[in-house]
Amino acid sequence: MLGIRYLSHHGSFKRNHLLANLKNCTALLRNISKGVNTNRKMSGTGQTVVDSKLLHSNVWETDPELFNLMKKEKQRQKHGIELIASENFTSLSVLQCLSSCLHNKYSEGLPGNRYYGGNEYIDEIEMLCQRRALQAYNLSSQKWGVNVQPYSGSPANFAAYTGVVGAHGRIMGLDLPDGGHLTHGFFTPTKKISATSIFFESMPYKVDPRTGLIDYNLLQNTAQLFKPQLIIAGVSCYSRALDYKKFREIADNVGAYLMADMAHISGLVAAGVTPSPFEYCDIVTTTTHKSLRGPRAGVIFFRKGKREVGGKIIEYDLESKINQAVFPALQGGPHNNAIAAMATAFKQTLSQEFKDYQHQIVKNARRLAAGLMEKGYKILTDGTDVHMLLVNVKDAGLSGAKAETILESVHIACNKNTVPGDKSALNPSGIRLGTPAITTRGFTEKDVDNVADFIDRGLKLAKEIEKLSGPKITDFKRVLFEDDDIQVKVKALQNEVTQFSSKFPLPGYEEY
Ligand SMILES: Cc1ncc(COP(=O)(O)O)c(C=O)c1O
Repeated sequence: MLGIRYLSHHGSFKRNHLLANLKNCTALLRNISKGVNTNRKMSGTGQTVVDSKLLHSNVWETDPELFNLMKKEKQRQKHGIELIASENFTSLSVLQCLSSCLHNKYSEGLPGNRYYGGNEYIDEIEMLCQRRALQAYNLSSQKWGVNVQPYSGSPANFAAYTGVVGAHGRIMGLDLPDGGHLTHGFFTPTKKISATSIFFESMPYKVDPRTGLIDYNLLQNTAQLFKPQLIIAGVSCYSRALDYKKFREIADNVGAYLMADMAHISGLVAAGVTPSPFEYCDIVTTTTHKSLRGPRAGVIFFRKGKREVGGKIIEYDLESKINQAVFPALQGGPHNNAIAAMATAFKQTLSQEFKDYQHQIVKNARRLAAGLMEKGYKILTDGTDVHMLLVNVKDAGLSGAKAETILESVHIACNKNTVPGDKSALNPSGIRLGTPAITTRGFTEKDVDNVADFIDRGLKLAKEIEKLSGPKITDFKRVLFEDDDIQVKVKALQNEVTQFSSKFPLPGYEEY
C-alpha cells in the first residue's frame, strides 16, 4: 500500500506507477471504500515525492493500536441501541468537513478582520455558515446576528454570560436535578460545581415536583427577589415544550435579557416540530451535534436592531459584546473544519428529508413513552412533546444507576437521571431516553416497539439480579457480571439486541 504513494523516483514514474497500481489495486479499492488517502504525493512537476510515512500514511498503518480502538467503537455504535438523548450519528458530509484541510488554518478574528493572512476562503466559509445558520431558523440578518465560532455548547454559554452580564452578573437557569444543564449556573450546598456558578452569581428555578413541569410562578417570584440580568430558558432533560412567551414576561418584569439554550432541540426547532425560541428571546445558544445532527460545536445567535426597555426604544448592543466575549476574551483560533461542517449541517436542515427525520424523532419518542407506559412504567409528565423522555424506574423498584447498568450490559445506551423530588443527584431515580440517534439509523415506530420490549426485559432482569444482590449497586454489579445464570440471560438478551440493531445502517465510514 505504501508503494503507490511514493513513486516517480528518477524519471521512472510511469512504469512504477503502472506496476504499483496493478499490485495495489485491491488495496486501493479497499482504501477508497474507507474514504482514505489514495493520493500520490507528487510535487507540481511530478518529479519528486514527499516521502514521509508519518505525513502520508493512513492511521491504520501509522497507529494500528489506536485504529483498533476506533474500529471497536464503530462496532459498539453499530451493535448497540443508542438512546442517549444528546447523541446522534452525523452525516458523511459533516465527517468529511471535519477531516478536511480546513483544520489547518488559523483565523483569529471575524471574517474580513483576521489576525493572520490567507483567510480568503475561510472568510467565505464562515460567512456561508453564518448565512445558513440564520436561514435554518428563518431569521432576518437585520434582526439577528450569529457567532459560529464557539467550540461547543458550554463555551457558547460561558461566552454569552461573559459578554452580556459580565463577571459576577446574575443569571437564573433551571436547576440541574430538575432538567437544566451544568452551564446554567449549577452549584450544590457545599460546592460551586460549574464555572458558571463560580464566575457568575446564579440562582436556580425549579420544576413543580408534583407535575414535573417548570414552576413559572416560582421563577417569577424568585426573579423579583434575585433580579437576574439574564434568564436562561433551556433544558437537558425535560420532555415538554417551553413557554417562551411566559419566560419573556418574567424577564421583562425584572428587566432581564432572555436567553434560550436550545442545544437539545435545535434540530426540532429548525424543522418547525417544536416552538421556536427566536420570537421571544434576545439571545439563543445551541450545540450543533445533538438533534441538529451536525458537528460537535456551538453557536450564539443575538438580536440586533431596536428593543423596548421600560417604555423607551433603545438599540441592542449585543453583537460586539458577544463577539468579543468569544474572541479574544475566551477563545483563540476558530475550528474552521467544524464551522464548515456546521455550514453543511445547516444546509441539510432546509431539506424535506431533514424535516421528515425530525418529525420521526418525535413520533418515535412518543411511541417509546406509550410503549413503556403500557408496560407499567411511569413516564414523567406522562409522555413527551420532543425527542426525549424521562422514565421513573424507582416506581418499578429500581434505581437509575441499576437501570443504566443493566441496559448498558445488553448494549442499550442511556443515562441515569434525577427525577423531580430526588434527594440525591448521585443516586437518581430515573433514566433519560432519547430518539435522535436511532431515528438517524432508520428506526420507525414498529422498531421502537422492539426497543420498549428490550428495555422492559432488561429492567425485569435487573429486578431478578437485585433479588440476589440486595440493594447496593456494587453487589448488583458483582452478581450481574459474575453469576453464571444471570450472565447466560444477559448474553441472550445482548445477542438479540445486537442482531436487531446490526440490521440498521450507520452513516460515515464503513470501519471507523
Ligand atoms: C442544554 C445544553 N446546553 C449546553 C450543553 C453543553 O454542550 P457541550 O457538551 O457541547 O459543551 C448541553 C450538553 O449536553 C446541553 O444539554
